[in-house]
Amino acid sequence: MEFNDRIVTGQEKDGDTWQYSLRPRILEEYIGQKQVKDNLSVFIKAATVRNEALDHVLLFGPPGLGKTTLANIIANELNVNIRVTSGPAIERQGDLAAILTNLGDNDVLFIDEIHRLSKIVEEILYSAMEDYALDIIIGKGPGARNVRLDLPHFTLIGATTRLGSISAPLRDRFGVQCRLEFYKPEELKIIIKRNASEYLKIPVDEEGASEIACRSRGTPRIANRLLKRVRDFVQVRGATVITKDLASEALEKLEVDGLGLDRNDRRILNAVVRTFNGGPVGIETIAAAVSEEAATIEDVMEPYLLQLGLLQRTPRGRMATHETYSYLGIPWPEKE
Ligand code: ADE
Repeated sequence: MEFNDRIVTGQEKDGDTWQYSLRPRILEEYIGQKQVKDNLSVFIKAATVRNEALDHVLLFGPPGLGKTTLANIIANELNVNIRVTSGPAIERQGDLAAILTNLGDNDVLFIDEIHRLSKIVEEILYSAMEDYALDIIIGKGPGARNVRLDLPHFTLIGATTRLGSISAPLRDRFGVQCRLEFYKPEELKIIIKRNASEYLKIPVDEEGASEIACRSRGTPRIANRLLKRVRDFVQVRGATVITKDLASEALEKLEVDGLGLDRNDRRILNAVVRTFNGGPVGIETIAAAVSEEAATIEDVMEPYLLQLGLLQRTPRGRMATHETYSYLGIPWPEKE
């Protein structure tokens, strides 16, 4: 199975578009990420009072935690328009120039996957962010001229799963930098209960919501996906409420275990423990052993394994922990 065909991937899948209508529209409705929300709320109020563009905002963290949702909420709270694009979609300097010159004062430009901008596009972004100006070259050869074009004051919101892939000059131009964390099960429970009753029109009891929350890898996108699959299962069974037993039976059938891990996670953990004697082993070596791209493992799968303490990152590579061995049911080797 392709890693991203998995039901427990944080990355967006084709079948996820129904979730757009569940997205909160204002900060108050946004569950979790308390620190990020509190900070943003202050900056948004201050910018509104001064009638200025909000400082540029960088949102980073694993996929599925609500970076796009937050960007839309920020624009909504600022009462300005938002233009949405992504790093790979902006191929040439001219593409970015066209977008920037069409923004209104204080508008938001959201660039998803901003770490995938080309160097040449990134370079004209610097003056746009810093001076609200575009430095472009008109003409070719000896007759070429530098022209400076004034831009509206705007807010750039960049989103990325990999902070480390953003160059220092770009990163430093974001006045506000927010790391999104995995959600706590109690936070996911609130989201699950609300979406079940308001959108999917099926009640879920406390323990049923907990069961789904605990298997959702701290990720609302996965929680909603699991919720929908559990609903199908429950309705086919002729039941009318999502209970713990029904949720757990449905999720076992989907091969999602009590921690939200599936067979692909176990393949990675098994490779580290069995093939590489518990590590340390480089991410590229693990990727080769399980026939997957290192970037997918690093961005999508590994963050949650690290959070659970089932994997450890060291300067010499990834290592298994006591928890990894006990999770896999393998005795901890007594090393000399
Ligand atoms: N749906 C997805 N993410 C959410 C969040 N953080 N709060 C409320 N509803 C959500």
